[in-house]
Amino acid sequence: MTTENNGQKVFEDFIGGGGQADLFDKAGELDAYFKGHSYAQSYGSALGVQLLGASSRQPELLEADGRRHEALMLGSNSYLGLTTHPEVVAASKAACDKYGYGTGAVSLYAGTTDLHKRLERAIAEFYGAEDAILFPCGYSANVGIISALCGPGDVVINDAANHASIFDGCRLSGADIKVYLHNNMRHLEKTLRALPEAKKGRLIITDGVFSMAGDLAPLGEIVALAARYGARVMVDDAHGLGIVGPTGRGTAEQCGVAGKIDLSAGVLSKSPGGLGGYCAGSAAVVQYLRFYARTYFFSTSLPAPVAAGLLEVFRLFTEDKAGRAQLWRNIDALRSGLQALGFDTGSSGSAVIPVIVGDELRLVALCNDLRERGVYTNIVTYPAVRRKECRLRLCVMSTLTPEDIARILALFAELGRKHGVIK
Ligand SMILES: Cc1ncc(COP(=O)(O)O)c(C=O)c1O
Repeated sequence: MTTENNGQKVFEDFIGGGGQADLFDKAGELDAYFKGHSYAQSYGSALGVQLLGASSRQPELLEADGRRHEALMLGSNSYLGLTTHPEVVAASKAACDKYGYGTGAVSLYAGTTDLHKRLERAIAEFYGAEDAILFPCGYSANVGIISALCGPGDVVINDAANHASIFDGCRLSGADIKVYLHNNMRHLEKTLRALPEAKKGRLIITDGVFSMAGDLAPLGEIVALAARYGARVMVDDAHGLGIVGPTGRGTAEQCGVAGKIDLSAGVLSKSPGGLGGYCAGSAAVVQYLRFYARTYFFSTSLPAPVAAGLLEVFRLFTEDKAGRAQLWRNIDALRSGLQALGFDTGSSGSAVIPVIVGDELRLVALCNDLRERGVYTNIVTYPAVRRKECRLRLCVMSTLTPEDIARILALFAELGRKHGVIK
């Protein structure tokens, strides 16, 4: 049991180790904990909310205790509100009528429609790449790409804050796993310099925008180091696509290295508002992935209505009509307002704004209070972040109005003081 949080157990204490008499013992212990502790119930409330409609500006929520109420949405990765964009939804509905709601097969066995092919082309063109491949989700994209391209004898070099799916792909690959301190280029170089000459298969992997802190990877320096030490570069720009960079082409564009990333991976479930993962790169590598990425080969393709919606999304991205300017106005207003109130928002440069609380009990109480008063946020605790950096993770949406932002800031001021997060 942890000694943090005044000796009270917190969620992390139930992460399964091995060696209990019965595999399910830990599940029984967690169940008893949920039933017997008020803190566990508060934690469960924070994570047990249902949306009774689309993830839009102010959805109706169903609380774990059965109450219904509306709340401004600061917890959705659909930053641009494209989940409910009329043209996206219309395209998706039309595709549902024509293709049905699922594909019924994996991509290589009758699961590819013309929509999937057009979407792969649209993604490739958006990145100026030769080709692109779609995966059922972002998680499976990372697992599939890394485990297909890397194996025993290779080395994968990871930022410590990379997404869990990247680390899972690395483990599955059997490659040697190295980790450098978050965004620390001196440590990355030291790691590369220490690699044995014989280890020639080298892949540096980083999130473009880090999902828990919203900060950006210094891709210019990473690309330069990769060239110096003979490594390939893979970027998962899940939270940069459509938002970051002068034309929304992501972190590589923002860092001046668009076209220099070997593997441009990402997800279609965040700013695009749909579902899926992808990798854009050379035609030969994409073709290789089609045959050897197991999460592509052995997993059913995206539903056609999702592919159709995403085709509209990439049209909006390409024409820069997805509402990026409004999103950035909201990001700037919320971030600067929180900072002025004294909140620690880390070094976010994207639509993900952390509010670092540092104490899990206080964090959960604040999150539930905010929601009670009409603002939905998510909590992030260990092991997703370090214990002392547990936080609210705010996701800004372009659909929030200036009045909404003012209301959110007023509430943060009041409740931040009440819970001792700010003075
Ligand atoms: C950086 C990053 N990569 C991958 C994923 C996984 O994407 P998906 O939810 O589409 O599986 C996420 C989000 O959960 C993410 O934040």
